[in-house]
Amino acid sequence: MVVWITGASSGLGLATAQALREAGHTVVAGARSFRAETGTDGIHRLPLDVTDEASVTAFAEAARAVSPRVDALVQCAGILVLGPCEETSPEEYRRVMDTDFLGMVRMNRAVLPLMRGQGSGKIVMFSSINGLLGIPCQSAYTAAKHAIEGYAECLQMEARRFGIQVCLVEPGDHRSGSQHTRHHAEAVTPESPYWADYQSATGVIHRDETHGSDPAKLGRKVARVLARKRMPVRLRIAKPDQHLAVYLHDLLPPGLNGWILRKYYYGKS
Ligand SMILES: NC(=O)c1ccc[n+]([C@@H]2O[C@H](COP(=O)([O-])OP(=O)(O)OC[C@H]3O[C@@H](n4cnc5c(N)ncnc54)[C@H](OP(=O)(O)O)[C@@H]3O)[C@@H](O)[C@H]2O)c1
Repeated sequence: MVVWITGASSGLGLATAQALREAGHTVVAGARSFRAETGTDGIHRLPLDVTDEASVTAFAEAARAVSPRVDALVQCAGILVLGPCEETSPEEYRRVMDTDFLGMVRMNRAVLPLMRGQGSGKIVMFSSINGLLGIPCQSAYTAAKHAIEGYAECLQMEARRFGIQVCLVEPGDHRSGSQHTRHHAEAVTPESPYWADYQSATGVIHRDETHGSDPAKLGRKVARVLARKRMPVRLRIAKPDQHLAVYLHDLLPPGLNGWILRKYYYGKS
């Protein structure tokens, strides 16, 4: 298969690109920090900024010079801004939506005509457990991932008759190292009325990621699922407690669910 993959310079995207390459696929990987080169690992790297239409077009053209086909697109590019809703600016929301959600829309618009022409294709979009439930201080990311979930359900129905499959990957916490590069809302300061809760919630988020699952294992699982004749519409890759959190979110009254999550992230209800 010829697979294009976004956000492949670090974390889950890098692990997935490596797993796909090890499985014998032609991998064309994009990230802002890439220069055009083919590494000793055999992965073709190309510069790509998913927030920039011209960059997406240039990536698609360069990828088609590597191979004219695109059998699969795996979308991992994403950013995260932590902050309470009141102190996260519209500009910060816009940045996250532009990368995490609209970035996927731009990439899909680039591959869909090609896949329709081929009569086949697979699109894998990295959502998150946060695409299914909200947690404190991650509203921009949660909103973008919820947008991806809804959008992917629509795309899945529309694209099916052209032989195009869509799969949402919903990871729980993984040790991607992304906590070292993430952004915090500029307005959050020790003077903030949310400061104590913010410290508590981000401490829990950081701890859960540090003790998260192995990205290499996730990469291999995504590669295996991509090779199947029929992909699932949703692939949740999470520890049992995060599966349980989603289950309880759908089962319990919202007030009770909120109480449990506040207790977990703030240490108090
Ligand atoms: N790690 C987890 O626990 C976890 C859990 C659930 C879901 N996820 C999802 O999995 C995906 C990868 O997460 P991660 O933790 O591995 O993050 P990460 O290590 O921070 O990697 C993010 C990737 O996105 C790229 N990127 C950021 N902005 C971009 C842009 N405008 N255009 C192109 N590429 C861009 C980055 O490369 P450059 O900076 O070079 O552009 C990097 O390769 C994300 O969609 C994330 O939401 C992760």
